[in-house]
Amino acid sequence: MKSWLAVLAVAMTVVGCGGAPDTDVEVFTWWANGSERAGLDALVTVFEEQHPGLTFVNGAVAGGAGSTARDVLNYRMGAGDPPDTFQAHAGKELTDYILGNRVQDLKGLYDENGWSSVFPEQLLQLLTVDGKIYSVPSNVHRANVVWGNADVLTRAGLDMESRPENLDDWFVQLDRIKAAGIVPLAIGKDWTQVHLLEVVLLARLGANDYTGLFDGRTDWRSPAVAGAVADFARLMSYTNSDFQFLDWEAATQLVIDGKAAYNVMGDWAEVVFREQDWRYDVDYIAFPVPGTADEFDFLADSFTLPVGARDEGGARAWLETVGSVEGQKAFNIAKGSIPARTDIGTDGFGPYQTTAIASYMSDDIVPSLAHGAATPVRWLADITAAVRQFGTKQDVAALTAALIAAAEQNRS
Ligand code: GAL
Repeated sequence: MKSWLAVLAVAMTVVGCGGAPDTDVEVFTWWANGSERAGLDALVTVFEEQHPGLTFVNGAVAGGAGSTARDVLNYRMGAGDPPDTFQAHAGKELTDYILGNRVQDLKGLYDENGWSSVFPEQLLQLLTVDGKIYSVPSNVHRANVVWGNADVLTRAGLDMESRPENLDDWFVQLDRIKAAGIVPLAIGKDWTQVHLLEVVLLARLGANDYTGLFDGRTDWRSPAVAGAVADFARLMSYTNSDFQFLDWEAATQLVIDGKAAYNVMGDWAEVVFREQDWRYDVDYIAFPVPGTADEFDFLADSFTLPVGARDEGGARAWLETVGSVEGQKAFNIAKGSIPARTDIGTDGFGPYQTTAIASYMSDDIVPSLAHGAATPVRWLADITAAVRQFGTKQDVAALTAALIAAAEQNRS
């Protein structure tokens, strides 16, 4: 009798109330289109090979950097309708969900899969809160990269081999490009501008003081921050006028179409150049944002297990694929990122990615602001609102004041 009851209990957990086993696994991301979708597809292929009994259900919500997905997710989590697993960024972005007990500790899964010894210690620390670990990283992206169209640079009379060493050298180049009647720097809407602001802060403050902005060691009222904000404003004066209407893909496309010389974007942009069959260092160039050559502005996508996931077993299977050698290799080759695991090697990765792998090993790693590593969601939302406001008013003093206020309101 006892064993019969045990079997019944197990069966009920597996099949749920409707009687049919729950094999659908809803994976929530913002990788809905284009090159990002291609990366996700590569991961899904491995998932289906590793877990043939399960069905991937695509819960993607479009919008670069999760600009729309985060709000949709927040609503669903609040309404008790979480996806089985969702994409987040390693670092502070998950703070509120962790404090609110909305995501589960995955320490057991880490132990079963031996992940604590294959992910870098620094990344594990970013994922760990009070000894618990809340997500599984799929990749590492570098945010401080300038992408350039070699042909356009040559047309503007620049030597495409010469890399500006700092922002001041870069301004000289940008002036020349502008004088040649070409848009020097392509940019898109709000979050892409926060991305630009972050790399300018990094270039002017250096790794230590930049990181200090978020942990309380650097004063947002300092002259160095004010100077960086002025540099950001100057960079914005070199951009395309329709920026408020473009997401990152459209901004990068301006470079590909020869309508703009440069774009600052994370290395997910790599894939878009590759898809044109363009040759790295011949048709397009990529280099660290001037003034940040020794820094790796870091972000990692990372998958979670929400409390109340309908198919918890399926979600755990997805997380296993995300953390597996096969999953990391297929996904990262397709996505332009580098594996979060340290045991994958460089086989199959292109020339740009090989440089990123080397930089990740040797550079100072700093957390990305625009991509959830540096601050909780609320602080980033306040900074984004301030930058958006700057886009319409171009008021440097107001932007500086709003950034100071955002730090004071949100820094714990
Ligand atoms: C980042 C994300 C990347 C990429 C990018 C553009 O936040 O970590 O994987 O998708 O946004 O959407």
